[in-house]
Amino acid sequence: MALSLPTTVAPVAIRTPDADVDPAFVGRWSSRSFSSEPLAPDQVRSLFEAARWAPSASNLQPWLFVYADDDETLLRARPIVRDSNRRWADNAPLLVFVFARRKHAKTGEDNRLAAFDTGAAWMSLAIQAHKLGLVTHAMGGIHHDRAYEVLGVPKADYESLCAIAVGRRDAAERLPEDLRARETPSIRRPVAEFAVRGAFKGA
Ligand SMILES: Cc1cc2nc3c(=O)[nH]c(=O)nc-3n(C[C@H](O)[C@H](O)[C@H](O)COP(=O)(O)O)c2cc1C
Repeated sequence: MALSLPTTVAPVAIRTPDADVDPAFVGRWSSRSFSSEPLAPDQVRSLFEAARWAPSASNLQPWLFVYADDDETLLRARPIVRDSNRRWADNAPLLVFVFARRKHAKTGEDNRLAAFDTGAAWMSLAIQAHKLGLVTHAMGGIHHDRAYEVLGVPKADYESLCAIAVGRRDAAERLPEDLRARETPSIRRPVAEFAVRGAFKGA
């Protein structure tokens, strides 16, 4: 299978890890400058293959990804995204809409970990994209009612969570000025603020 090799080196200078960690975790970031150049089918397959192997409670694999990657499907899918995100996401050659199956496939009981597990699958997809030199940007800002309707996903069975724009990073100069100013990797809270030994001692 011919996959393109990683090419993107993100401007991660302001991101300095405090411990040894695989560079993919620090190098991935959600830029908004997308080239509209279509992705190769092998790349798209690779992204979902990564998501496929995510862990999940009782191995239920509750995630559902509905994607748009050509003129016809993208034309229908773009209006699901809120206008504030469409300003940049309309350039992405791949839009992935993320749903979580609400119930346990066998028992029919509520799966309270469905969104958690689907989050793990999205992160696998995001890291794999980064390794392929691609960019991902998740968007909670979508019209969920339209997502069910346009994509034919039954609301009773699945919860609409978000969408993901995927593509190649383009020059930031092509973005509108206000977005260009935000086109930089963000920083993080220190580990000591969220990983505590023994018991929580208060915020
Ligand atoms: C579930 C989820 C929803 C998000 N929704 C939006 C969104 O609607 N619009 C947007 O511009 N960014 C959105 N983001 C991107 C976050 O703002 C971004 O991941 C966060 O600031 C950390 O930056 P980084 O991904 O560049 O490391 C979302 C991210 C996630 C994981």
